[in-house]
Amino acid sequence: MKSFLLVVATFFPLVHPDLLTKINKDKIPEENAVSEKEAEWRLKAIRKLWSERQSMGRTPLIRFSPRGLPNSDIFLKNETATKTRTLKHRFVWALVLWAITEGKVTSNTSAVYDSTSGNTGASEAYMCSLIGVPYVAVVADNLETEKVRQIESFGGKIMKVPVSDRNKRAKEEAKKTGGFYINQFGNAERAEEYHESGSFHYESTNVFHEILAQFEEDKLQKAKVPDYFVHSAGTGGTISSVGRYIVRYGMPTRVVLADSQYSLFYDYVINNRFTNQSGAGIWTPPGIAGIGYGYDIEPVWYGDTTSLVRHVVNEAMKMPDVATVAALHELNGRGLNVGPSTALNYLVSLYQAYKQRHSSISKRLTIVTIACDPGDFYRSTYLNSTWVDASLGKSGGMKSVKCWREVIVNAMDKGSDFLGQGLTKCYGNFQSSL
Ligand SMILES: Cc1ncc(COP(=O)(O)O)c(C=O)c1O
Ligand SMILES: *[C@@H]1O[C@H](CO)[C@@H](O)[C@H](O)[C@H]1NC(C)=O
Ligand SMILES: *[C@@H]1O[C@H](CO)[C@@H](O)[C@H](O)[C@H]1NC(C)=O
Ligand SMILES: *[C@@H]1O[C@H](CO)[C@@H](O)[C@H](O)[C@H]1NC(C)=O
Ligand SMILES: *[C@@H]1O[C@H](CO)[C@@H](O)[C@H](O)[C@H]1NC(C)=O
Repeated sequence: MKSFLLVVATFFPLVHPDLLTKINKDKIPEENAVSEKEAEWRLKAIRKLWSERQSMGRTPLIRFSPRGLPNSDIFLKNETATKTRTLKHRFVWALVLWAITEGKVTSNTSAVYDSTSGNTGASEAYMCSLIGVPYVAVVADNLETEKVRQIESFGGKIMKVPVSDRNKRAKEEAKKTGGFYINQFGNAERAEEYHESGSFHYESTNVFHEILAQFEEDKLQKAKVPDYFVHSAGTGGTISSVGRYIVRYGMPTRVVLADSQYSLFYDYVINNRFTNQSGAGIWTPPGIAGIGYGYDIEPVWYGDTTSLVRHVVNEAMKMPDVATVAALHELNGRGLNVGPSTALNYLVSLYQAYKQRHSSISKRLTIVTIACDPGDFYRSTYLNSTWVDASLGKSGGMKSVKCWREVIVNAMDKGSDFLGQGLTKCYGNFQSSL
């Protein structure tokens, strides 16, 4: 309060307060806070985004019914079918719409900056080029070359830094150059059109709204509301957006966080930990690309380093990273072009189906999860045996991947407990972190 008074006093030293607040019909302001030229730029940018939304349409739902779990359907919402090929397409659309609406990005913005593990960067590059604003992705110096190429192909520039410096550097560079640090981790909450799905001419981008609409329109789909929504968290934006939607509209769907082995999110959600402590010593690279918390050495602060809303998540579950890599290899072996976070989503969904295998629900157990990005992006890493042996050596590398793959296939075909079997049978460093 004190500093506010001080500012007022500095700006209007000679004006009596009564004059400032007096209503005078001759002095109705004629100037806009936003100049006409700027408003014109804004309108043009916003129209471009809504026309992009129209051309996005809806991404397909793919149904799996594992032979060994005949009462359940696992649906993958195929976000790799978007123009920038990941779940970030719809999110970044809403994030950029927010930034323009609130004047964070104007015709004068030198560039938009963000810290990214690649997918957000590619979508941001795309949306920024759509509105004619330069974009710089601040990425880890060892980012997959496939992802660097994606970002560049949509017109983005790359700045490589050590992985734990990404947020800090993106913020600094933006400040230095008259740019805007759009901060996907802190600002997902503000991307309003991502959480809602109003229908002023067009549907917005809430992924759960889209799923419900697709179930509604599908005559063969009996269960119209999923029993479970399963998803991992990077920014936490997607799972929180879905969770908020479910809570706000009083839906029965349970929201399950699928977390990676060394991530802090599980404890954050279940035990409310790591809000004021970094947990830097727990994180073990490489983790699962794009998700989990630990890349950033700062604590988990809602609205700053994360957008994960604990209160809208019902359950959380961890899987060993090597099991996730095994599922990745199995799914890609079956011709499903999906990345590691999708494999984790799938494993947790499969486990939910296993746990509920005797449940007496009237309709089929219906689990929905997300196909986040394509396997193509990981040919040089998670899908490369040499890389797996080198990067996941402590968990047994490819030998352990093979073992996990067998128990996972068994679960799909016979409805067995792959997690219990894998943890006892397959080599790896599990007990300490799970
Ligand atoms: C491959 C991949 N999977 C999952 C996620 C998690 O999505 P969200 O950031 O909405 O939590 C991300 C992004 O962070 C990602 O890049
Ligand atoms: C998702 O959609 C893309 C684009 O249409 C397609 O190439 C891909 O095979 C689909 N993924 C799955 C898992 O069906
Ligand atoms: C644009 O930026 C320049 C230099 O930073 C500044 O002088 C000018 O006032 C800005 N214009 C608008 C419309 O914000
Ligand atoms: C974190 O620290 C802030 C003040 O620094 C305090 O208000 C808050 O209660 C702390 N939260 C936790 C979870 O310890
Ligand atoms: C596989 O990984 C190794 C070790 O990181 C690397 O040297 C090699 O180039 C990779 N192969 C491909 C095809 O990317």
